[in-house]
Amino acid sequence: MTAVVQQGYGSTDVLRVERISTPEPAEGQVLVRVHAAGLDRGVWHIMAGLPYIVRPMFGMTSPRQPVLGVDVAGVVVSLGADVTDLAVGDAVFGTADGSFAEYAVADAGKLARIPAGIGFDEAAAIPVSGLTALEAVREHGLVEPGHRVLVIGASGGVGGYAVQIAAALGAEVVGVASAAKADFVRSLGAVRCLDYATSDVTALPERYDVVIDINGRLPIGRLERILTPAGALVIVGGENGGALTGGIERQFGARIRSAFTRRRLGFFISSESRAGLHELAGLVESGAVRATVDTVRPLSAVREAIDDLLAGRIRGKAVIHVTD
Ligand SMILES: NC(=O)c1ccc[n+]([C@@H]2O[C@H](COP(=O)([O-])OP(=O)(O)OC[C@H]3O[C@@H](n4cnc5c(N)ncnc54)[C@H](OP(=O)(O)O)[C@@H]3O)[C@@H](O)[C@H]2O)c1
Repeated sequence: MTAVVQQGYGSTDVLRVERISTPEPAEGQVLVRVHAAGLDRGVWHIMAGLPYIVRPMFGMTSPRQPVLGVDVAGVVVSLGADVTDLAVGDAVFGTADGSFAEYAVADAGKLARIPAGIGFDEAAAIPVSGLTALEAVREHGLVEPGHRVLVIGASGGVGGYAVQIAAALGAEVVGVASAAKADFVRSLGAVRCLDYATSDVTALPERYDVVIDINGRLPIGRLERILTPAGALVIVGGENGGALTGGIERQFGARIRSAFTRRRLGFFISSESRAGLHELAGLVESGAVRATVDTVRPLSAVREAIDDLLAGRIRGKAVIHVTD
């Protein structure tokens, strides 16, 4: 099969489009004929091997899984042992090991049937970012109707879904993104979008029940000041925190600070589950959430898609279209 394979860690120069053996599903797994694969920041982290703190998980000098890509949408073509809840021919979306390829193996429990009314490209844009947003907004933010919610990093992969899910829950959502993407953020349901280059949200008088910080670099103390007395700060991630730790100490700092206040300050690592995918499918089918597909490129143009992501040219998600 054709796949995007990485040799070592580094820039997009480590990527090659190669012919390699088709993987075989182990117990509890299925083989998916990949039609489309989504691109998110996590893919860049695996390609770059950064921050270094993640390397024990992925491989010290090169990744144990050399095929890039996690988000997947495609058709089940074979079943490993003990898979009873999916069948050959099912059109599925979810997460896989190495989805920038014609075929990928996936744990059956990390796949669900594609929502009615959308195609493979749209479905591939949902899993990692949508699951993370769902967890941030609902499980950690505990967003309720009438809440005022601030989403920092509202125009990206996770943010595009966080804005929509919070708005669907009846919250009044304010986004933070670049000025060029303000219209996109408002189109997702935000009442307002602040430009991070010209306004410091922590210096404004507005207070929020929930702040979802997807890519802010603001100190926790300042973010705490814009919370209501029982508000919650949910840190999803953040770039440019340094090559060694990626700035994870900010997340741990929030947990420690949380012990000394009524406010809830914390972070989480998202989990990939069929239950979450079912919920996202329901939100898509009801019209509450739409897949945030921006560019769609072929497998041979993964490098260009990653360049677009790093240059901030993507509104929502980029998708790699593998086959019709
Ligand atoms: N906790 C978890 O389990 C988990 C799961 C998934 C992702 N993450 C992490 O979450 C982060 C975001 O991921 P993503 O896929 O959403 O990335 P993304 O698609 O690249 O989106 C990044 C967002 O951050 C915004 N941004 C850039 N500079 C900013 C600044 N100075 N202040 C505020 N916002 C700024 C961007 O706005 P413009 O594009 O408009 O400039 C964009 O909205 C990454 O660090 C990723 O590793 C964590």
